[in-house]
Amino acid sequence: MDEPASARAKLNEFLVVNQNIEPCLASGRGAEVRDEQGRAYIDLEAGPGVASVGHCHPKVVQAIKDQADRLLQVPGRYHSVRTMSLAQRISDLAGGRLRRTFFANSGAESADGAIKCSLKHAANSGKKGFGIIALEHGFHGRLSLPLALTGIAKQKRGMGPYGTFPGVVHAPAPYCYRCPLKLDPGKCGTACADVVEDMLQTRVPGEAAVMIAEPILGVGGVIVPPDDYWPKVQAICKRHRITLVMDEVFAGFGRTGYDFAHQHYGLEPDIVTFAKAIGGGVPLGGFIGTEELGTAFEPGDHFTTYGAKNQIGIAAGHAVLDILRDEALKDRAREQGAVFLEGLRSLQKRFPVVGDVRGRGLMIGFELVRDPGRTPAPDLAKALEREVLKRGALISTTGAYGNVLRITPPLVIESGQVERAIRIIGDALAAVNV
Ligand SMILES: Cc1ncc(COP(=O)(O)O)c(C=O)c1O
Repeated sequence: MDEPASARAKLNEFLVVNQNIEPCLASGRGAEVRDEQGRAYIDLEAGPGVASVGHCHPKVVQAIKDQADRLLQVPGRYHSVRTMSLAQRISDLAGGRLRRTFFANSGAESADGAIKCSLKHAANSGKKGFGIIALEHGFHGRLSLPLALTGIAKQKRGMGPYGTFPGVVHAPAPYCYRCPLKLDPGKCGTACADVVEDMLQTRVPGEAAVMIAEPILGVGGVIVPPDDYWPKVQAICKRHRITLVMDEVFAGFGRTGYDFAHQHYGLEPDIVTFAKAIGGGVPLGGFIGTEELGTAFEPGDHFTTYGAKNQIGIAAGHAVLDILRDEALKDRAREQGAVFLEGLRSLQKRFPVVGDVRGRGLMIGFELVRDPGRTPAPDLAKALEREVLKRGALISTTGAYGNVLRITPPLVIESGQVERAIRIIGDALAAVNV
């Protein structure tokens, strides 16, 4: 539908929440999308984090078509071998003790289900409390409980008690560039991890049942915890029998150069949540837990109509796992991510407004700041987003202060596209940094 801009603006009035309406995207292949007028953009967002295997990967498209000819939905009380074998494949990929999967439709549902399961497990095992620990700057979705877990205040503004939940407390984020404890990174002994232990005495009502966090915080501004942060926190969780849930909705399935980002830290979480990339563009999410967690629910405790039953998502999930393996995409994420980081670090030398560049694999962010004091510059970030768009790439601002530019392209992005994207960002920086 190639409508003129004014007609597109009118159509937008039929939607509840107005998004960016220009460009209106009409097609995509690999790391490139095209708008209604046929103009091409390098996609540096991927959805965010959805199109890891690229837009309309032929194998995903074929799998969906084949499945559509056979069966769309398994009726509620029945099973499908395809669903169970996808669960088995996710368990093989996650490794360690992670064994039983619950399938959902989205990231928010995955976080919600993981917490529900952890609380049921806490009750089964005689815990005297249902405290939930999350992280400041963390993000877990926009439904009520996931929003309560989210540690970014602006996401909750103007909604009264929606986005609050009894027993949720937030620990300081391991955000070294803006240390919440005002300590010197490298000389701090990762004190922010110790705070989790202190909070058990001071802030958690009763006993803590579960801690949920992203191994690398995406929406919060691509915050990469230092290497010893997660091992320290995991030890605290083990000591206090707190279920550790790693939210891998954004970082999972090769994006950071590992199958799951918690593997960077050598962790053994009790539950891992996932969504986005696994569906290859079709809604699919879920969580995988240890045998103990995965058997906490009684039959009927937890269910959703589509998750495990919608065979289009399940078929897409199988195709995505094939592609991740066959095209060695986690290795590509590592290689292309290194090129991206190097390119951005050389831009940082030219443009003092680039305050910090960080990331792992193809989960990258850079902060725009004004000196002195690393003052966040969200206005410049928005301007940069627009300038990048004008030059033919999609990029988005994120973080609690709105000053982080996030780069999470399809993992199939080609070297030439990475080089072009870095050039575009450089030209855009020159345009805004007057
Ligand atoms: C880490 C994380 N968890 C959960 C979500 C929510 O996912 P969804 O939008 O599919 O509900 C997101 C979305 O960006 C996310 O990044």
